[in-house]
Amino acid sequence: MNTPGASKPGVSCMPVPRFGVLGSGKGSNFRALAEAFKEDSRESEVAIVLSDVEEAGILDLAGEFGIPHRFVAPGHFRTRMSPEAEEAMVRLLQEARVDFVVLAGFMRVIKEPLLKAFPGRILNIHPSLLPAFRGLEAWRQAVEAGVTEAGCTVHLVDAGVDTGRILGQSRVPVRTDDTADSLHARIQVAEHELYPRMVREFARGISIGPRDF
Ligand code: GRF
Repeated sequence: MNTPGASKPGVSCMPVPRFGVLGSGKGSNFRALAEAFKEDSRESEVAIVLSDVEEAGILDLAGEFGIPHRFVAPGHFRTRMSPEAEEAMVRLLQEARVDFVVLAGFMRVIKEPLLKAFPGRILNIHPSLLPAFRGLEAWRQAVEAGVTEAGCTVHLVDAGVDTGRILGQSRVPVRTDDTADSLHARIQVAEHELYPRMVREFARGISIGPRDF
């Protein structure tokens, strides 16, 4: 890991964009990102992983990758963090000198503290071809609707649920014998290829502030 604000070894003056990951679950998308942006990546770096679920697999995985990680108690709301909890996340992300935020299976709606702190700089991956099937268990919605094609979408996060600007999509077929689980597994394979590619593209396009070396 780099110390915060440092440039990558061997790339003397070029600061590397840093991102924070928020997740609530097993973290397979985080694993794909961490592998894509290992220390030798000169393009971007995972600076910190935060979760609203103390026993989430994503926190253990972050430990395995040697990436700083923290549980942040969500407060008493079910679908979002309490304002104080979201402020605490913002502080941790800022202390980790994060340039942008990547949601990887984060199961709460993002509210103003994060949207204000990282305007236009929060990415999400959703397991459908948005705008189709917003919300929970999109793969199950796709099977139940009888569509022949599903997929995943990387988009910017705004104040709505899965409504922000679309950055990229991958398509996967739906088979006649698919269950919700088998379709989700196929979508996840596509996610693990799409998300690192989209994050890389996004990181290339943003400007980052001056750093002390
Ligand atoms: C993924 O299917 C993603 O599209 C959705 O939540 C799931 C997270 O899975 N937002 P994982 O924790 O990355 O394995």
